Amino acid sequence: MEKVKRTKVVDLLKSTAYDSIVNVKGWVRTHRSSKAVDFIALNDGSTINNIQIVVDPSKVDENQLRQITTGACISVVGTLVESQGAGQSVEIQCESIEIYGLCGGDYPMQKKGQSFEYMRQYAHLRLRTNTFGAVMRIRHNMAMAIHTYFHEHGYFYFNTPLITASDCEGAGQMFQVTTKNLYNLKKTEDGKIDYSDDFFGKQTSLTVSGQLEGELGATALGAIYTFGPTFRAENSNTPRHLAEFWMVEPEVAFLDMDGLMELEEDFIKYCIRWALEHCKDDLAFLNKMIDKGLIARLEGVLNSDFVHLPYTEGIRILQEAIANGKKFEFPCEWGDDLASEHERFLVEEHFKRPVIMTNYPKAIKAFYMKIDEEESGFGGKSGQTVQGTDVLFPQIGEIIGGSVREESYDKLMGEIEARNIPMKDMSWYLDTRKYGSCPHAGFGLGFERLILFVTGMQNIRDVIPFPRTPKNAEF
Ligand code: 4AD
Ligand code: MG
Repeated sequence: MEKVKRTKVVDLLKSTAYDSIVNVKGWVRTHRSSKAVDFIALNDGSTINNIQIVVDPSKVDENQLRQITTGACISVVGTLVESQGAGQSVEIQCESIEIYGLCGGDYPMQKKGQSFEYMRQYAHLRLRTNTFGAVMRIRHNMAMAIHTYFHEHGYFYFNTPLITASDCEGAGQMFQVTTKNLYNLKKTEDGKIDYSDDFFGKQTSLTVSGQLEGELGATALGAIYTFGPTFRAENSNTPRHLAEFWMVEPEVAFLDMDGLMELEEDFIKYCIRWALEHCKDDLAFLNKMIDKGLIARLEGVLNSDFVHLPYTEGIRILQEAIANGKKFEFPCEWGDDLASEHERFLVEEHFKRPVIMTNYPKAIKAFYMKIDEEESGFGGKSGQTVQGTDVLFPQIGEIIGGSVREESYDKLMGEIEARNIPMKDMSWYLDTRKYGSCPHAGFGLGFERLILFVTGMQNIRDVIPFPRTPKNAEF
């Protein structure tokens, strides 16, 4: 017989070319046998949906047929027919089966309903399950949405270095990069490590953010965005933190606080709308199997205006709630960094929609944020708050962190000195304020936090193929 070209399952399920001979290749999800007929549900990753293969055991090598179990990889040639049974549009009447790879009874992904914790041990195989297939297809689609949004709005994709000598967030959570012999470290006379003979001739680390270099791009190209991996050695073993995560960082010249908040809301709604339009089947699956409130929550965010809430007013609301009997684990006095329980209370219980919190105390934010000149209202203290914005989401807490940048050379220097940030490493950054400084703003979206929100998954380790967390760098 003439070789038949392979068709993907996603295309076969949409096809009406009944009675044509087709070839499909994929992995067996289930195999049910009876005397007269076998049913094989086959999936090739192109869609959450399986195609049903109907096999007449007398037509094929029955010994071989019996060996085809869940997880096996096969190639089937047969006739595409309109399905008799409920639940699928078409099925394939099998003519011949070729086995690519059998799958033993010890296949770790065999059973249904295994816990996500169990599956994390098999991150190399969990990708073949329905849930992880859906999550990974949605992850891809969100990356496409991000590039499309910025491209259509005139932003340039700008690549910033992963190896850097500066700590953008100043939180001291960087992973060092070195080729030095750690078993025999050369020290200077005063006992410090001598980096002069290290690969870069100085101490370097993996970046926690592309923002500083992003600002160089924005103050030349007008509007840029970065989209790449970032690394943080923060020892927080939470369902919201990874040591290696992807961040999207737009940076825009001539953007002020109002423009920044408008961009944050418009951008994130665009991504959610994209998911609802492009990932219907996967979302329907997750809505049924993982989180019955998922699609309603996505639509809810699309249909609501985000609250703009100054930090000082947020603290007032939280304290009022405490006075009325609400219990929180962590304190929330003016000046405290909000914990995710506070953020979620404001979003999920108080306002019941996303909140953009603004005008934070300067002491809990990074050095580059623009200092508020005037009394920022609601008891805010002049000169003590900054034009930072955190976008807070239901289920997630902080999904975006951004700010207007301090464009005054003197004020920025003041902060750098007050915080003891090593100046010699920052001169290139300060040049943006020295030569043609301009007002500008930007933000960082945690890509995995967006995927958490869009998929309804509960743990950030389950929305990236191979998570990196404290004590875990498997695969
Ligand atoms: O709020 P962050 O620290 O902001 C910055 O890094 C700025 N330089 C961004 C900018 O203005 N260009 O981080 C931004 C976002 C957070 O809101 C959160 O969604 C995500 O990155 N994020 C993490 N996601 C996963 N694991 C972690 N450990 C994360 N830390 C931050
Ligand atoms: Mg933040």
